[in-house]
Amino acid sequence: MTFEALVHASEVITGRGVRLKDGKRITDEDLGRIPDGAIVYSRHSVAGQSVPKKVEWVGPTEELPKKWSEVPKTDLKRKRAIVPGLIDCHTHLVFAGDRSAEFAARCGGASYEEIAQKGGGILTTVKATRAASEARLIRLASARLREVYRRGVRTVELKTGYGLTAESEIKTLRVIQALRRKFPKMTLKATYLGAHAVPSGVDRSEYIRKIVEETLPAIGRQNLADTCDVFVDEGYFTRDEGRAILLAAQRHGLPAKIHADEMTNTEAATLAVELGALSADHLLKISDSGIQSLSRSSTVAVLLPGTAFYLKAHQAPARKLLDAGVRVALATDFNPGTFMCSSLPVVMTLAALYLGMTCPEIFAAVTYNGAKALGLEAHKGTLEPGSDADFWVLPFRKFEESYYRFAW
Ligand code: NIG
Ligand code: FE
Repeated sequence: MTFEALVHASEVITGRGVRLKDGKRITDEDLGRIPDGAIVYSRHSVAGQSVPKKVEWVGPTEELPKKWSEVPKTDLKRKRAIVPGLIDCHTHLVFAGDRSAEFAARCGGASYEEIAQKGGGILTTVKATRAASEARLIRLASARLREVYRRGVRTVELKTGYGLTAESEIKTLRVIQALRRKFPKMTLKATYLGAHAVPSGVDRSEYIRKIVEETLPAIGRQNLADTCDVFVDEGYFTRDEGRAILLAAQRHGLPAKIHADEMTNTEAATLAVELGALSADHLLKISDSGIQSLSRSSTVAVLLPGTAFYLKAHQAPARKLLDAGVRVALATDFNPGTFMCSSLPVVMTLAALYLGMTCPEIFAAVTYNGAKALGLEAHKGTLEPGSDADFWVLPFRKFEESYYRFAW
């Protein structure tokens, strides 16, 4: 094990107060901004690459303890800030194929639902992803992940859901395992989203029976996924179907997540709370009682303002959620249908402009609360002794610049 330090950062944001408040009602005082800050961390070797391991110390550069005075130091000359590595807790990043024609159709007035009813939408990507080899999916996803890393994201959740047969869903999970080996500086979490849509030509109850009785047990046995998600919405899966699938997932050790109340309100956020889900995501149409139940739970509300923007839909009631004391995370939802963009900083700009979120709220949403939506908050989301040293050294002086500058 070796140790290193970064000194004279323009600012270090530890996020310690965000952890103390467990991600709720975050204000500027909770960020723990340290001007002219320094950080000491350990390194270790993973897959032949030297990778930062744990944070040892954080504080003002002038208070660097004697104990660390001999470690090799890099001087950031007050030009670069350091924050916890960003977390994108909701993506559909592994896919093949092209949906630009559907985008054009939507721009010409067709709705997402109409396109899906005609057999397009998710099922277009399913065809292309099934046809793609594992090697091709790895190549496509790797190029995307390099961009994601460049923009400060160190932890990414990747959903399946473009295979929709046991075999092709497991192929996607194996692709995610291969990506983990290729990107040792990132943490990649795999979510099984077999219940993303009912594949064409398949009986719906038979499809759900297979997920519950065959695919989930196989995934659990082989330890191929970390969490399970269901698209609970009109035209996709009902609350009862979602409950049955997610209870089965929990029996196989996979915590629940839900695509909830996106196109229509089906009180799916309340189902997420009932199941003790890690997160309820989208929430464009969440009801007041859904907001109330989230505020009394440990379930994170994951907001995806890029998707509403790209669909020209009404944004989620972010201020209502935040003011009710709900824990809010932000993520890209990167996918070829409803947000063909992998940039979390772009989503942060949209959150500032369209969700009315403040800087401290945005910071918490892409660090600690993103970690909590993945069950990783014990080691990620803040910079404190003992946390993972997967921090981001910004190419900017202040955290705010990462989303004030648009689409860098
Ligand atoms: O999160 N809402 C469901 N699934 C994706 C869209 C997937 C697609 O259109 O390919 C979403 O928006
Ligand atoms: Fe999604």
